[in-house]
Amino acid sequence: MFDPEAFIAGAVPEIRANVTGKAILAASGGVDSTVAAVLAARALGPDLLAVYVDTGLMRKGETDDVGRTLKEMGVHHRIVDARDEFFSALKGVEDPERKRVIIGNKFVEIFEREARPFGAEWLVQGTIAPDWIESGGQLRDRIKAHHNVAGLPEVMHLKLYEPLRDLYKDEVRKVARALSLRVAERQPFPGPALAVRCLGEVTPEKIDVVRESCAIVEQEIEDAVAKGAMSLPWQYFSVLLPTRTVGVHGDVRVYGWTVAVRSIESLDGMSGRYSKIPHEVLERISVRITNEIPKVNRVVYDVTNKPPATIEWE
Ligand code: XMP
Repeated sequence: MFDPEAFIAGAVPEIRANVTGKAILAASGGVDSTVAAVLAARALGPDLLAVYVDTGLMRKGETDDVGRTLKEMGVHHRIVDARDEFFSALKGVEDPERKRVIIGNKFVEIFEREARPFGAEWLVQGTIAPDWIESGGQLRDRIKAHHNVAGLPEVMHLKLYEPLRDLYKDEVRKVARALSLRVAERQPFPGPALAVRCLGEVTPEKIDVVRESCAIVEQEIEDAVAKGAMSLPWQYFSVLLPTRTVGVHGDVRVYGWTVAVRSIESLDGMSGRYSKIPHEVLERISVRITNEIPKVNRVVYDVTNKPPATIEWE
């Protein structure tokens, strides 16, 4: 039986013994990198610098949440506002794989620029067991160029330390709960963030729509779960489609955007089945999205399993 307290008690001195000198860490706001940051900060104090890059593609409130958590947990960190740089780099780009490559490269460039002056010799990374098991060229990697920070150690000539490399997701969540981290229950979120939920070209205006509609989907589903109306899905979010359809507001014909809601049941993200969400919950989501986001006049629900579809739409 996995004992999170024992894991924490062992991990901190182990990091201290192995990571000799200054270290940096890319904080994404997800469970894995946050747990790695807290453990490494306990071991290294100010010799660890966690860098969080605000790409402009993050979920509602996420950048503030990450900053607050790192501060509360005593992690020496830096928040970098790179929103304009990411939107300029993505201007005019429609192809999903090109978006991923541009975002991955931009991330490495900004991270390097911000972290190099700290003079670290080590990179601490929140890699968990399924990450390296899957990086052996299995299905998932061949379908989409998954974004991660794998390029960093070579670019910056860093030694790599991965304190969570033997843990599975449920174990990392247990460690996160033992550390009282709010992110413990957060659903998985792709590295290229909302860019792959905004089909076609990414613009600040479209990302705002995705961000707001994703927040509504999260709130309504979490509310329904809290009331016992359904169980918590593996992932649940919305996607902005690159099509416009005809609708009516009052007596006026409008030509508005369409949002697709996606909710999926899965154990590991490799395969999954769409969630059988109660219709009342879907209706609340639809009514809220069309009321609160005036540009959207149609909401559809994705009833496709994986395979044949992937979880994300891009
Ligand atoms: P797909 O869409 O391939 O996603 O069925 C499987 C799981 O991986 C997440 N995902 C990504 N994660 N970089 C990531 O770090 C990516 O480029 C990426 N694309 C998909 C997805 O959210 C799901 O949990």
